[in-house]
Amino acid sequence: MARDILITGGAGFIGSNLALEIQRREPGAEIVIVDDFRSGSFPNLEGFRGDLVTAEVGLLDWHRLFGDRPPEMVFHLASITDTTVTDTATQMLANVEGWRRLLAFLAGKSLHLVYASSAAVYGVTSSPQNRVGDPERPANAYGFSKLQMEHLARRFSGENPKIPVAGLRYFNVYGPRESHKKKSASMIGQLACQIRSGKTPRLFVDGSQRRDFVYIADVVDATLAAALAPKGNGVFNVGSGHSRSFNEVISCLNVALGTQAKPDYFPCPYRFFQPHTEADLSATKDAFGYLPRFSLEKGVYAYRESGWLGRDCEQ
Ligand SMILES: NC(=O)c1ccc[n+]([C@@H]2O[C@H](COP(=O)([O-])OP(=O)(O)OC[C@H]3O[C@@H](n4cnc5c(N)ncnc54)[C@H](O)[C@@H]3O)[C@@H](O)[C@H]2O)c1
Repeated sequence: MARDILITGGAGFIGSNLALEIQRREPGAEIVIVDDFRSGSFPNLEGFRGDLVTAEVGLLDWHRLFGDRPPEMVFHLASITDTTVTDTATQMLANVEGWRRLLAFLAGKSLHLVYASSAAVYGVTSSPQNRVGDPERPANAYGFSKLQMEHLARRFSGENPKIPVAGLRYFNVYGPRESHKKKSASMIGQLACQIRSGKTPRLFVDGSQRRDFVYIADVVDATLAAALAPKGNGVFNVGSGHSRSFNEVISCLNVALGTQAKPDYFPCPYRFFQPHTEADLSATKDAFGYLPRFSLEKGVYAYRESGWLGRDCEQ
């Protein structure tokens, strides 16, 4: 693995898990995290020994930070992650213009680049599975901004053919170090909080909507594999490859927490709520051999064993 590694958004859920895993696998790596803490959280970085730069991606003087020793591996995860921020300018300025500035700094350098896109680019599709190449119809400003990031990356790739650039369309990620996201945390984390605090878990009618829930350890593996793969160029789905209903999530949580909670159903207020997501992983497997290891049952169990399930819940 490269020794000089940049992770933007490293104080967030996925970024902190990634940083700590790289540090574990490669103790000699020099990791620089850039995060402005708009949604990140310092307890996520307990045990992190690298450099933590508090700055906004779109405003940082990248040349000054790295001088003539640019990173060899870049993971760009910083983004507004609250999908209910509906103001398009806010999403675009933070997510796309910051990315544009980072790409301008990285142009012509020698490195591997991985960035976070999202299953939100698919929007409300009727397809049971989401394949890269399916029509992208983002239904909110967040998904739209992620799609614009992909377009920018594609252009950058054309102009910088020696730099492998992998965009990862993460599906519904859950696991340790997500509690700071509150109402943007995974439904698994939120429902666990409701159950653990003795409340009735709340679902949109009728709980049969399905999601591809993917455990954070699989996401970290996929993200690292994308950075290391010679064929890791393009856009790839990162999910579990299976869809499970919200009602099934409640059943799994009841097993993990030893409870017998029954959901309270209420009408969904969101026009853009996806009825079904499920990652087609064939291209991801071909490009970097990604094979998810965690079923929903196994992931929820691992989450509970980590001690983070239902921890730091807002009361
Ligand atoms: N968690 C998921 O289920 C999921 C699904 C699809 C895509 N993603 C994408 O994965 C990435 C990581 O998401 P996450 O779940 O870890 O969210 P998160 O909110 O926990 O992490 C995002 C981090 O980026 C930082 N940040 C945001 N904008 C910034 C900016 N302009 N400059 C510097 N720092 C900034 C935040 O402070 C935060 O620490 C995001 O790009 C997100 O869109 C996540």
